[in-house]
Amino acid sequence: MDDGSLKKEKKESQNGSTGHRVGSQAKDQKPVKATVLHKEVGLVSGICLIVGTMIGSGIFISPTSVLLHSGAVGPCLLIWTACGVLAMMGAFCYAELGTMITKSGGTYAYLMESFGPIPAYLFSWTTVMVLKPSSLAIISMSFAKYASTPFYPDCPPPVLVTKCLAAAAALLIVTVNCLSVKLASYVQIFFTGAKLFIIAVIVGAGVVMLAQGKTQNLSNAFEGASQSFGAIGLAFYNGLWAFDGWAQLNYITEELKDPHRNLPLAIVIGIPLVSVCYVLVNVAYFTVMTPNELLLSPAVAVTFGDRVLYPLSWIVPLFVVFSTFGAANGSCFTAGRLAYVSGREGHMVKILSYISLRRYTPAPAIMFNGLLAIFYIMPADINTLINYFSFTQWGFYGLTSLGLIIMRFTKKDLHRPVKVPIVIPGLMVLVSCYLVLAPIIDKPEVEYLYCASLLLAGLLLYIPFVHLKVRWGRKLMGPITMHLQLLMELVPPEKSE
Ligand code: ARG
Repeated sequence: MDDGSLKKEKKESQNGSTGHRVGSQAKDQKPVKATVLHKEVGLVSGICLIVGTMIGSGIFISPTSVLLHSGAVGPCLLIWTACGVLAMMGAFCYAELGTMITKSGGTYAYLMESFGPIPAYLFSWTTVMVLKPSSLAIISMSFAKYASTPFYPDCPPPVLVTKCLAAAAALLIVTVNCLSVKLASYVQIFFTGAKLFIIAVIVGAGVVMLAQGKTQNLSNAFEGASQSFGAIGLAFYNGLWAFDGWAQLNYITEELKDPHRNLPLAIVIGIPLVSVCYVLVNVAYFTVMTPNELLLSPAVAVTFGDRVLYPLSWIVPLFVVFSTFGAANGSCFTAGRLAYVSGREGHMVKILSYISLRRYTPAPAIMFNGLLAIFYIMPADINTLINYFSFTQWGFYGLTSLGLIIMRFTKKDLHRPVKVPIVIPGLMVLVSCYLVLAPIIDKPEVEYLYCASLLLAGLLLYIPFVHLKVRWGRKLMGPITMHLQLLMELVPPEKSE
């Protein structure tokens, strides 16, 4: 999303490449002029956003957990491939939804259209309270793990060190994103390049190893494969974390130029690219590590680098740190959007959708996200957070796919420039039911209960504050909003045609 390409894209759009948005679609488009929202995102920026959000921390931390839960190399590689297929299927559904309902807000807008305000509100509540901050927490913790491992060559880094580093990383990312949108998008471009570079290095080294015949860890690949229903679900949680981000472009459809063309195209190019990379990276890890070594490694890519790239092994942790930083940045970049869209419907505390007058950034949403992330970093470990995240996220992906199916019957007259075969959303619903239920049935753990009670708490707040709009709610929030506005120089985002 560099300036140059933005300008070019702008010119293209003036030349009429968006000119064929017709009738009701054109009315649905409400370009918003404020902060990052007056940007135009084209195909290249769209692919960058998808690839840049998907590749982040997961491919450097999840391989251990996917292997642990799947039990052997064969099923592990199969699960990585299946995750890619699932991400692709999900993205296809979102391509239909995104070109049919061209409002920003992604899942939020689609749930609103298919099921009405309550599920949409619950989604925005859960995203603001759990999904966004836990992503930032997981990514920051991966950042910390890779930044500290090289300094502790003989033992895993102390927990206190990684947690403090993670909190510092979260703070830094929040600061960058609050300071300037331009800085944040430069950071995004640079780090997307950095992560593609390190992935290419790992894949390249792996291919060389394979060519040298180092395939012993890939033989007998199915020995010891896990039979447990729930464990496979958990392996998927970890793999799917690495793939998450495929729906990212749907959050900013309103800013996407020619969404009917660019949304599906960005998906079809971006996701297979990432999937192939991920499988190859895993194969590369197995060329130099036995499954046991991989399970014991505190940071797989560092171990890989130490064995293969010496004396240049330091580039691995450095570039992984870049990669995680970029992912966190991309995730922050969209944090303001959902708050804005759901604030517009009265589903969110207004102050979260406000924008810094001087910096043109959605500072309140970003800061709130950072605060909660630090709150999650303190007690939790990465894997618990990933389980929390995937469990909640896939519940909503399933619900959204169900919505797609329902709208095929209830909203027949909506224009659908992209129409996926109905089996795809059908499969998405089934898979997400499995993903949400299998780990709970197999091994009920208290954290799933926390997630469920948080949802319930959201519902309890809905009745007085959103449905009944009680007066004292506004009386309480009014002065708080005003003080924060004055203190941080915030304004509501302006709407314009
Ligand atoms: N796949 C990313 C990673 O491996 C995480 C994406 C989190 N999701 C999001 N919508 N930001 O780090």
